[in-house]
Amino acid sequence: MKSSKPKILFLLVAILILCHSVEAQKNTRQNISPADQIKIETLMRQMTIEEKIGQLSLFASGWDNTGPSMNNDYKKLIKEGNAGAVLNAFSVDYVREVQKLAVEGSRMKIPLLFGYDVIHGFRTIFPIPLGQACTWNLKLIEEAERVAAIEATAAGINWTFAPMVDIARDPRWGRVMEAAGEDAWLGGKIAAARVRGFQGNDLKSENTLMACVKHFAAYGAAMAGRDYNPVDMSPVSLYEWYLPPYKAAVDAGAGSLMTSFNEIAGIPSTCNAWLLTDLLRKEWGFKGFIVTDWTAINEMVNHGVAEDNKDAARLAINAGVDMDMEGSTFLNYLGELLNEKKVSQARIDEAVRSVLEAKALLGLFEDPYRYCNKTRQETEIMTPEKLALARKMVTESCVLLKNDKQTLPIPAGVGSIAVIGPLADSKGDMLGGWSAAGEWEKCITLLEGIRNKVNGKIPVVFEKGCNVNDADKSGFEKALDVANHADYVILALGEDREMSGEAASRSGLNLPGVQEELAEMIINTGKPIVVVLFNGRPLTLTRLNEIAPAILESWFGGTQAGNGIADILFGDINPSGKLTMTFPKNVGQIPLFYNSKNTGRPFNPEKPDEKYVSRYLDVDNDPLYPFGYGLSYTSFTYSGLEATLSGDTVNIRAHVTNTGDRDGEEVVQLYVHDKIGAITRPVKELKGFQKILVPKGKTRTITFILTRDDLAFYHPDLKKYWEPGEFIIQIGSNSKETISTSIFLN
Ligand code: NOJ
Repeated sequence: MKSSKPKILFLLVAILILCHSVEAQKNTRQNISPADQIKIETLMRQMTIEEKIGQLSLFASGWDNTGPSMNNDYKKLIKEGNAGAVLNAFSVDYVREVQKLAVEGSRMKIPLLFGYDVIHGFRTIFPIPLGQACTWNLKLIEEAERVAAIEATAAGINWTFAPMVDIARDPRWGRVMEAAGEDAWLGGKIAAARVRGFQGNDLKSENTLMACVKHFAAYGAAMAGRDYNPVDMSPVSLYEWYLPPYKAAVDAGAGSLMTSFNEIAGIPSTCNAWLLTDLLRKEWGFKGFIVTDWTAINEMVNHGVAEDNKDAARLAINAGVDMDMEGSTFLNYLGELLNEKKVSQARIDEAVRSVLEAKALLGLFEDPYRYCNKTRQETEIMTPEKLALARKMVTESCVLLKNDKQTLPIPAGVGSIAVIGPLADSKGDMLGGWSAAGEWEKCITLLEGIRNKVNGKIPVVFEKGCNVNDADKSGFEKALDVANHADYVILALGEDREMSGEAASRSGLNLPGVQEELAEMIINTGKPIVVVLFNGRPLTLTRLNEIAPAILESWFGGTQAGNGIADILFGDINPSGKLTMTFPKNVGQIPLFYNSKNTGRPFNPEKPDEKYVSRYLDVDNDPLYPFGYGLSYTSFTYSGLEATLSGDTVNIRAHVTNTGDRDGEEVVQLYVHDKIGAITRPVKELKGFQKILVPKGKTRTITFILTRDDLAFYHPDLKKYWEPGEFIIQIGSNSKETISTSIFLN
């Protein structure tokens, strides 16, 4: 008779594995494989409390820091098991070296996450995110993030601190360059497209990158546009105008989320238990891990809600933060806090699991060097296809703000061109802020783009004229001279790349330095002139708009900036970009945004002198360029708008006719105004858009379908539902110029 011992042993092992995996499943938030679940549970059992806390600490490698460094010896920390992730370290060799410290040098051998701010490209730099948003091309934005992910992962990165989805209505805030503009609905669509682009279908693939949606929450509503300033707003506004893009990114599966520096109504986000746990985890079902912004835990002492760093660590972990970026507060104090019973073992374990799950999702337990492929690094970065996509993105992000007397495109017969201005040949500035590992030397400037285009057939003369931001006018004379001798002048003006981005708020939004004076002098020559703008935010261009025949907003276009702009200037591509942020007439109008309220005393343009109405004495209420605005080399008219109700849906139809003499793409925008609500409704809200090609002389019929739920809004009890009544449906080429009809919903 055979012994039954092996059978029993087998059964016991099977039961053990089953129990293990049932327990593992119970603890798991993310959809990870049974093998990874067991791996995580095994690690959880084996790790000391110090090693667990180590997983909750993120340290900078010392490159590209954006704040004070708390811990310079990150390599030692890794070997000791005191770090779970590293930021700002990239390139295959370096990442491999650092990863080796963790997987060969530390006791638990847990691989590290490698994070980096891949905001608008890694090496192939695309236009700044605000510019990308102006394409209104979600597919293109997703493709650009795909390229960013391919390049970043080819250089060892597996985690990006993007997308930044903060809604901003105040262009004084320098970080508007990193986001999608002022509209929450559009912001949500763009946020989801970015997450899809970074993460692809499978985070385990070697060319996908874990996204980190930031900065939760409402960082873009900093008072007076001053970075890091407090935010104070009604809960309804928070839900309606600021939270939707974060929610959209979470719903799209973003693997992580970053807390914001600001407070909301007195509570810094990094210790806001309602925000991080009740709303994000419980209401929205967020499954990823929560990391702070740079030293945001320590900053709670300055905010005045924590006595010291230890107290701040207690507040943050208990609010739901899982990982401390650079602050060392978790590393230094979580152990003590646990002993003092000020934080529970369960909360620490929950945070550790969420970090380990991210590592499992990225496939790091199977292969910690998954993102360290030298061949990929050598072959997949800045390839011709990627550069072509970046160039296409430049062309679609450019917004034509003015074009009198068909100044653009540059006529074929022009015999010579003068290119003037401090940004015409400034390679460094083309990248814009937050340009990851972008190489400024490889950027194509406007001057180079123009020279590439004319290919030596006509003379192109360059004069800088002045610097971006000082009072030196010594270059004016030469600039005037070249303008006088040219058939056509291109003036390149704007901000330098450091004037927007983090910690780059401005209280005035004019063209800095003496640039406006330079423009005035050159424009007075009477030559055909286009002003090409480079900037990271809406500027106040009232004077320039009065005097310049043509203005093209090009933002900071990245690696291919000059080539893409030249495609537009010479008419190879017809501009189609539309603003996603209002351009005010002056700073006093700020905050100025399209989805404003009517007030009880609205200004009536037919009675401009009426006194007791909502207006200014010295400027009207209208923006210089409204949300959704942007010209084309052709023209479009709208007609035949119809809205009909069928069951639960509103069917909308309109005709768009290209009345000009060249084919063109138009961003058709759908706005709705709910006439009467239990709480006041904006004068209009974007509810849909389509970017369509309309051949010259042709008419296209466009349809939109809205559900009743699309017309819902948040009420004071924070419930979202629609109310019966009349809705004005508007379709047009920007938020100001629309045709309208109305519909009743019961
Ligand atoms: C601070 C910035 O606010 C954040 O957006 C960025 O991701 C981190 N620094 C890391 O660089």
